[in-house]
Amino acid sequence: MARNVLTPPTRLLLGPGPSNPAPEVSAAMAAPLVGHLDPYFLQVMDETMADLRTVFGTANHHTIPMSGTGTAGLEAIMFNLLEPGDEAIIGVIGYFGQRLAELAERAGARVRRIEAPLGEVIAPERIAEQLDRRPPKLVALVHAETSTGAEQPLAGIGALVREAGALFVVDCVTSLGGTAVDVDRQLIDAAGSCSQKCLGAPPGLGPVTFGPRAMAAVTTRRSKPATWYLDLQLLFQYWGDAGGPRDRAFHHTAPVANIYGFREALRLVIEEGLEARYARHRAAHERLVEGLGTLGLLLFTPETHRLPMLNVILIPEGVDDVAVRRQMLERGIEIGGGFGPLKGKAWRVGLMGTNATPEVVDRLIGELGEVLAVSR
Ligand SMILES: Cc1ncc(COP(=O)(O)O)c(C=O)c1O
Repeated sequence: MARNVLTPPTRLLLGPGPSNPAPEVSAAMAAPLVGHLDPYFLQVMDETMADLRTVFGTANHHTIPMSGTGTAGLEAIMFNLLEPGDEAIIGVIGYFGQRLAELAERAGARVRRIEAPLGEVIAPERIAEQLDRRPPKLVALVHAETSTGAEQPLAGIGALVREAGALFVVDCVTSLGGTAVDVDRQLIDAAGSCSQKCLGAPPGLGPVTFGPRAMAAVTTRRSKPATWYLDLQLLFQYWGDAGGPRDRAFHHTAPVANIYGFREALRLVIEEGLEARYARHRAAHERLVEGLGTLGLLLFTPETHRLPMLNVILIPEGVDDVAVRRQMLERGIEIGGGFGPLKGKAWRVGLMGTNATPEVVDRLIGELGEVLAVSR
């Protein structure tokens, strides 16, 4: 029996991700497919690595979009850098910090958690104290905690971690492309992000970067990592090692169309300019906060460390969370619900990539105002 042609609705994606890709990105994904070992594609891979280095702010050769989403990249970091019995210090300021701790444990590490209350961040002194107590193999932080809207400051932490002889790992899934991550300047040894938030491509890739200290840990492991698909040494036989042979070995079939789209998204980021892009995200956030004020709505996260691209908004007393989100969706706008302890208490609004504009903010405020007017 004939099936209907796929006709997804057009949505303005203002949840915690994915965001709407630029039309150029969608067009690139529909470009003619070539094989994953085609000389043309090998050139696309090299260009993608080069542009991703620019966006991460790094000279690291080992910088690629992993197949799989952001989680795959973070899992690759933990499973390649940690060996059974290693110790890891993980900053937990929300759900995604807990997840990093879980990944490290699954890689066989003993994990010490440094926790902060929801909405708060971790002071560098608390990390220094733990490093003094006993230096671990690795310290990992979530830069942009998508569950609470908090931005974990990174300044100065890389130096502390390096002094202690440990590796500094950062989850920048929500921040990359929307605010500065600056891998080399912050002395970050490995970082993992995603394709579908501030970089403006669809989900499906986990951009990662590994510096020389991280790669030294990878190449001097006592044992093979307990993952074949995410084994960095195998992966770079395909992506090409620094100064290595140019004939690329088959590892898995790279998602060619996704990488086309991602390369185009990176091109757009670089064409806009990193600083201009961060300023655009910041301006959209400020306009949103102002607009929310006119609706009598408040943000959950303290102003001192609010993320620009992900806004956690307190749901007023007596307003039905699910009903409002459903009505917004009927108007073509997706917003996110609260996560974990904030479920039912907050909405999460992402202004990421193409959606960090005054026009989008004004449309959101207008529609939300109308929905709330009949919901209270
Ligand atoms: C901070 C953070 N880390 C990790 C992830 C997981 O990324 P993905 O959903 O692309 O696997 C997310 C997803 O929203 C996130 O916000």
